[in-house]
Amino acid sequence: MLGAVNPPVFENSLFTFDTAGELAEAVKDEDERYVYWRGTNPTVDLVQRKLAALERAERAKCFGSGMGAISATISSLVSAGDHVLVLGAVYGPTTQFLRYLEKYGVTHTHVSSLADLDSAIRSTTRALYFESPSYMRYEIFDIAAVSAWARAHGLISVMDNTWSTPLYQKPLTLGVDLVVHSLSKYIGGHSDLVGGVVAGATELIRPLALTEYQLYGAAMSPHDAAKVIKGLRTLSVRMAAHQERGLAVARFLAGHPRVRAVNHPGLPGHPGHEQALRQMSGFSSLFSLELDTDSRAEVAAFVDGLRHFRVAVSWGGFESLAVAPAVGAQEERESVRATMGIPVGLVRLSVGLEPADTLIADLGVALEGGRPLA
Ligand SMILES: Cc1ncc(COP(=O)(O)O)c(C=O)c1O
Repeated sequence: MLGAVNPPVFENSLFTFDTAGELAEAVKDEDERYVYWRGTNPTVDLVQRKLAALERAERAKCFGSGMGAISATISSLVSAGDHVLVLGAVYGPTTQFLRYLEKYGVTHTHVSSLADLDSAIRSTTRALYFESPSYMRYEIFDIAAVSAWARAHGLISVMDNTWSTPLYQKPLTLGVDLVVHSLSKYIGGHSDLVGGVVAGATELIRPLALTEYQLYGAAMSPHDAAKVIKGLRTLSVRMAAHQERGLAVARFLAGHPRVRAVNHPGLPGHPGHEQALRQMSGFSSLFSLELDTDSRAEVAAFVDGLRHFRVAVSWGGFESLAVAPAVGAQEERESVRATMGIPVGLVRLSVGLEPADTLIADLGVALEGGRPLA
């Protein structure tokens, strides 16, 4: 519009009509027509179209957070008495949400490999949920095989693709039915927004856009949508830099005597590396290391010894972050960690855009016992 290089931010909570009949018509189609911000908004719509194009989806729906997208998506697929299969480690609050659904009579089963799915499926199973690479452990699943298995058993497959971004992996092209993302990570990229999206076929997206999106109310704001558009513009250059720095840091850690394992699918020694190369076109910079200890105090000392890596939740921004899931976790998080098989000595790193040698030096010092605060 007007040759503007940035799209306008439509700060409209509502849109007006000339007649009662026009409004009534628009309300029937609130995912397509602009009526009220909690339904959709032109700036949010623009992001939805961009994300749908990137994921090769017919349609995408943006939410006020990744969990907003995940909880609405799962809710749209199940009714009381239904069952969900979960493959591999998935984001902790996703598991917490599935546990929460038990009070509505929806159950779930976690399995750790494709081979275990056959014995875990029930007549009431409706959906299969997974991440690849998986949460905290970064295991790789054969996405085409998992989605083919789900389809053969009449299940809707849902995959969280936040780790790779749609630049490096397009699960819908491998047969997955619905892809979810937290936009708060690499896609936003500047740690200044929280958002989510679900993408897939119109016949799956439209019902949830008209029901769960409207009723749960996790609407995306046009201001956050504008930030997502800015993030998308630099996504490819940021991801290339994240990939390079992440791999450099991972290689350093893999050669360190205090490190038992480095879970980065871009390393040739990773058990899923070959499969990753077949289904991904790049690697992000979120991975974990396992210290050669099962002592929470030693893990905390390592993390506390870091200076450039700040200690925080979330990931995917310009800043490098570290988090140790087993240190000080409250009861439910601790039980989720144990269910996912995340070892006590595991530390997750989100490698930002600082020079790799600065980050490597920081990790080297922390591994040697850290240093006092300057
Ligand atoms: C893999 C993954 N999926 C989903 C989410 C949830 O996203 P949000 O924090 O935007 O609700 C997160 C957040 O950390 C995540 O790590």
